[in-house]
Amino acid sequence: MGRPKLRRTAIFAAALTFASAAVLSGEASARDAAAVAAGGGLVETHCAPCHGENLSNPNGIADLRQLRPEDRGRFNQTLQQGRGQMPSWAGMFSDAEVDQIWAFIESISN
Ligand code: HEC
Repeated sequence: MGRPKLRRTAIFAAALTFASAAVLSGEASARDAAAVAAGGGLVETHCAPCHGENLSNPNGIADLRQLRPEDRGRFNQTLQQGRGQMPSWAGMFSDAEVDQIWAFIESISN
């Protein structure tokens, strides 16, 4: 009677895979939420003075909410080199902090 046992093992393995996938995605979204929150804090302190509360762009300078995933390279470069009236942020933020700022921007992009 090997078969029923085999099937039970297969069901158990499938359940286990499903459960661990759920745990993993839960961890990923918790991590994303933490990154967005941390990025929001950095934006509030460093970017909001010019780009507005929640980057609402009250001064009409550059609406960061319109940045798209494909703009990530330009974003990094702008932070590194500055642009127009915006000073360079080179050396100000760790790579992780730049990722957090980007996560926040993506979370409010329109
Ligand atoms: C001193 C005011 C000031 C501060 C503070 C500031 N910016 Fe800017 N930023 C500007 C101005 C002005 C522009 C438009 C520059 C231009 O195009 O001439 C700009 C443009 C940008 C752009 C280019 C947008 C695009 O479409 O490519 C990015 C990205 C950006 N800012 C990100 C940030 C981030 C992130 C922070 C906070 C770490 C920040 N800025 C803080 C003034 C500021």
